[in-house]
Amino acid sequence: MRPGGHEVLKYVTLPDPTPGPGELLVKPTAIGVNFIDTYRRSGVYQVPFPHVPGTEGAGEIAALGQGLEDSGYEVGQKVAYAESVTGGYAELVRVDAARAILLPPGLDLKVAAALPMQGLTADYLVRSTFPVKAGQDVLLYAAAGGVGSLAAQMIHETGARLIATVGDAAKAASLTALGVPSGDVLVLGTMRDLATDLPKAVKDRTGGRGVHVVFDGIGKDTFKASLASLRRRGTLVLFGGASGQVPPLDPQELNAHGSLYLTRPTLADYVATREELVERAERVFGAAARGELTVKIGQEFPLEQAAQAHAALESRATTGKLLLIP
Ligand SMILES: NC(=O)c1ccc[n+]([C@@H]2O[C@H](COP(=O)([O-])OP(=O)(O)OC[C@H]3O[C@@H](n4cnc5c(N)ncnc54)[C@H](OP(=O)(O)O)[C@@H]3O)[C@@H](O)[C@H]2O)c1
Repeated sequence: MRPGGHEVLKYVTLPDPTPGPGELLVKPTAIGVNFIDTYRRSGVYQVPFPHVPGTEGAGEIAALGQGLEDSGYEVGQKVAYAESVTGGYAELVRVDAARAILLPPGLDLKVAAALPMQGLTADYLVRSTFPVKAGQDVLLYAAAGGVGSLAAQMIHETGARLIATVGDAAKAASLTALGVPSGDVLVLGTMRDLATDLPKAVKDRTGGRGVHVVFDGIGKDTFKASLASLRRRGTLVLFGGASGQVPPLDPQELNAHGSLYLTRPTLADYVATREELVERAERVFGAAARGELTVKIGQEFPLEQAAQAHAALESRATTGKLLLIP
């Protein structure tokens, strides 16, 4: 009942929720595990306790709340969601109907559960925060991970040059399968001093200039290397802290590294309106349904084993998406 390591997660029985006005009651087929769930569990992001973690999943509508009779939603329809009202690691979840995503026909529900957070995040990072274009040089960390494996495909599709990092050589296969030359997949585990070795490797591959943009979801361990890997007037998109949060920064650092831009975006601000949520969801879920976006489910755990799923994600051993199956 308090923040802590993965061992504080306990499987308990609670009364079934009933949907409030404007809410759907959804029975998830699969539940997405995300790094943000670990930040909330551990107290990095403060939430009231006791806390049911999880925000994301996909499944069938089991009941409609008041006011949704003529909304177009029906019991039995398949939906996904990135923001559950009651906590997503559960067998029944309340979802704000205005934030639900109706799924295209034929999309596997496990694939759908992998996309609301990581797929929409990859979409906004690459298309809106820094719209990547052909001919640009891009550095992406954790490129075999959840957000990373999707963002890597989206960057590659633009015709930009992708320089991707992975923790160990075993994770490089998904990048080379995508067509990224093996010389552009940098294995962080082989570097002795990330802050100097990584920028050197990036500059060696970009004619000494550095990249136009860095997408950094690792944070504390990589931030300095990210600043030093950018070209003059490049952009650092810091979108997470898998290794820990970045300490306060003196803005002069941006000046010293060549008039850099720094942003710390979050998904909520890029799907704030229903229109933007639907536009991104149609693009990402549609691409997955047509087989144009490969969604790798790295590991599945029974819902009771949420603690093991958190331990796996934090251990850095995973690739692709982790799901909980109720
Ligand atoms: N801002 C937003 O809107 C938003 C939305 C969703 C997710 N995120 C962020 O995106 C990042 C990736 O999330 P994800 O759910 O897709 O996870 P993930 O990438 O599947 O897993 C995190 C990866 O980070 C790398 N890493 C490097 N140092 C690490 C460390 N000390 N501990 C753990 N991992 C480390 C590992 O890859 P390697 O071993 O290959 O280096 C690991 O597999 C997270 O920071 C998350 O908070 C942000």
